[in-house]
Amino acid sequence: MFGQLSHLARRFLGAVRPGAPDHAEEQWALTKLNDGERALWRRMNNPDRRHAIEVAHKVVAELGATATRPVVAAALLHDVGKVESGLRTPGRVVATVLWAIAPSPWLDSWAKGSHLQRRMAQYRLHPAIGEQLLADAGADPLTSSWAADHHRPAAEWRVPVSVGQVLKACDDD
Ligand SMILES: [Fe+2]
Ligand SMILES: [Fe+2]
Repeated sequence: MFGQLSHLARRFLGAVRPGAPDHAEEQWALTKLNDGERALWRRMNNPDRRHAIEVAHKVVAELGATATRPVVAAALLHDVGKVESGLRTPGRVVATVLWAIAPSPWLDSWAKGSHLQRRMAQYRLHPAIGEQLLADAGADPLTSSWAADHHRPAAEWRVPVSVGQVLKACDDD
């Protein structure tokens, strides 16, 4: 629980820091994405793009030549489903805490609740939403599968376990 809270605190501090990723970093990320993926990338907010670039660099350092384009795209776009909720940092923190302490009971009722509750439920569903956005954008199946599976246990992953382990280890979610 303490680890989870300190992780949340770190992510919160990262998320309130304004500013786009460094220009060269952003250009590097764009070279790893196809046209449809680039359109999704541009919908992601600054903290999410900075986080995604950090994850992608770690993945490339870890996998070297075996970091294929779809794998790097998976690192860059694993959380893209968050764009649909429209939640800003405070709402995301509340949704993440609720998710950690009560994974599903609130989800069904909130999906039919107030505007804010519906957004939080949508945020909770970001893996499935991301998978659909990426499939519609013409992403490689590995990329869209990882968006869907990145919060699931390894036994349920559809990407090769060796690749999923690196993607997971390089992401601090
Ligand atoms: Fe996520
Ligand atoms: Fe992440």
